Amino acid sequence: MRFHGLLAGAALGVGLLAAAPALDAAELKLGYSLAPTSHYGVGATAMDEKLRELSGGEWSIKQFPANALGGEREMVEGAQLGTVDLVITSTGPVGNFVPEVLITDIPFLFRDYEHAHAVLDGEIGQEILGQFPNHGLVALAWGENGFRNLTNNKVAVKTPEDAEGLKIRTMENQVHMAAFRELGVLPTPMAFPELFTALQQGTVDGQENPIGVILSAKFAQVQKYLSLTNHVYSPALIIISPSVWDGLSDEEKGWFNEAAKAGAKAMREKAEADARDGVAELEKQGMTVVSNVDRAAFEEALAPVFAEFAKKFGQDRIDAIRAVG
Ligand code: PAF
Repeated sequence: MRFHGLLAGAALGVGLLAAAPALDAAELKLGYSLAPTSHYGVGATAMDEKLRELSGGEWSIKQFPANALGGEREMVEGAQLGTVDLVITSTGPVGNFVPEVLITDIPFLFRDYEHAHAVLDGEIGQEILGQFPNHGLVALAWGENGFRNLTNNKVAVKTPEDAEGLKIRTMENQVHMAAFRELGVLPTPMAFPELFTALQQGTVDGQENPIGVILSAKFAQVQKYLSLTNHVYSPALIIISPSVWDGLSDEEKGWFNEAAKAGAKAMREKAEADARDGVAELEKQGMTVVSNVDRAAFEEALAPVFAEFAKKFGQDRIDAIRAVG
């Protein structure tokens, strides 16, 4: 992966030795789906800064925001194949590669941000990260996308009945799709890069995402109603390609792990600040906000699908997640 810097050689030639990058510098490609100002962009920048600091400039990250390397499924595939070095992705498509991740996508599983962090940074979350190498990937840390909320163009959704019959874009995630089907919604799995146009052209009535994404993707331009359903926590992952990871020394692996932790921390802070402050901004941009959502009714309506999840993932494992303090 490394190149013995042409730049450094050129700098030497013109007598700029002090300003030259490290002789053995390497720049990695990191892809994500959102804008550079989003929580993913903030996380990527914090990771890059920490990596440069720890490696004395030997390693750095070049960001490819806004789906420049493809949608999330494609980027994860790229990491598996070695064509993409690093990815920040929601768990949305990751369960298709690492099935052990799917349990984290169950609606109403995590109570709040503190609970999600305690589970993912604790034994259960670390055990899941430990499964990635069995599927040709390496996950460095859990980042954050945030609690997802429903937007649409047809109706102010407060109860599950209001949502019945809506055509809602979901991520390419079987757990999310099963839950929406149970609510009588028509789930339409679609890669994120296609979503804005689909909303604009009315191919789908709505979508669901955290406040930070709704802001960053400018969905207020194409969606009227925002219901604060907070129906599922959406974790993010910082993934590195085994083709990079396997070539690192133990010391370098330590730098990457620490840098990913710094990135995840910054990502979480930004996602949570957006969740706190972003609703007022979306209202200002013209969205009608439904804040008195009947969450208990949504949870109750999902009872049959929860029974299916218990069979699929094990009630004991679901209970273990719920029991984390
Ligand atoms: O909806 C999605 O696909 C994801 O939440 C997104 C916006 C790509 C961020 O990970």
